[in-house]
Amino acid sequence: GTVAALIPAAGAGTRLGHGPKALYTLAGRTLLERSIGALRPHVDEVVVALPEGRGDEFQAAPDPQVRFIAGGETRQLSVRRLLHATTADYVLIHDAARPFLGARIIHDLLEAVAETGAATVARPVADTLVRGGAAGTGSLWGELVAREGLWAVQTPQAFRRELLLAAHDRAHAEGHAATDDAGLIARSGGQVRLVRGDARLFKITTPDDLPLAQALAAVWDA
Ligand code: CTP
Ligand code: MG
Repeated sequence: GTVAALIPAAGAGTRLGHGPKALYTLAGRTLLERSIGALRPHVDEVVVALPEGRGDEFQAAPDPQVRFIAGGETRQLSVRRLLHATTADYVLIHDAARPFLGARIIHDLLEAVAETGAATVARPVADTLVRGGAAGTGSLWGELVAREGLWAVQTPQAFRRELLLAAHDRAHAEGHAATDDAGLIARSGGQVRLVRGDARLFKITTPDDLPLAQALAAVWDA
């Protein structure tokens, strides 16, 4: 079947504090350019959701395989618009905020999605987990959470397009807000295969993430 890579890149990047995050440049290439470059060789088309009115800054080099649309108010709405912008049999959804995406992950996901219709990369949790207060200083150790069997979910995530569209339509109709597409499939009673992810797929969220991202970019591009 045909495969479209869908990239939600319409966020404001509020926590990072450098304007739209997809335009943030690491060692000469934006986060968005890095994600497009990683996905492009493996799919039939790439569709990117951009912040409303910021399209010009992103479309510097026209590429017949890449299309840009306006995103929505939330990530969920941006993904919904992306799903309506393609007719591909399968979609690979990947956050522009995770620029270090390797070919092994894409192959593993496409293999898994052919079996279950839904798959995501995820990593077994390695740290001890404990409840505390809100993030910040001065919080106290609360209840331990057993980490056995817990996975941290990343992107990319792969779906049969019609399956994810149905899950999105249901969530939309019910007013359910989600930060994750695989979670919407599970909520609809579908099976989601967990594919082993990679520490390098971490999401660039706050300025704390930049030293690691800059160091990794230097190695990645070498
Ligand atoms: N995203 C999107 N449309 C939105 C909000 C987010 O396409 N309305 C995308 C972001 O561009 C990003 C991904 O969803 O690639 C994950 O979101 P996040 O890390 O929260 O990025 P931002 O929303 O840009 O950051 P912040 O929440 O700090 O403003
Ligand atoms: Mg956000």
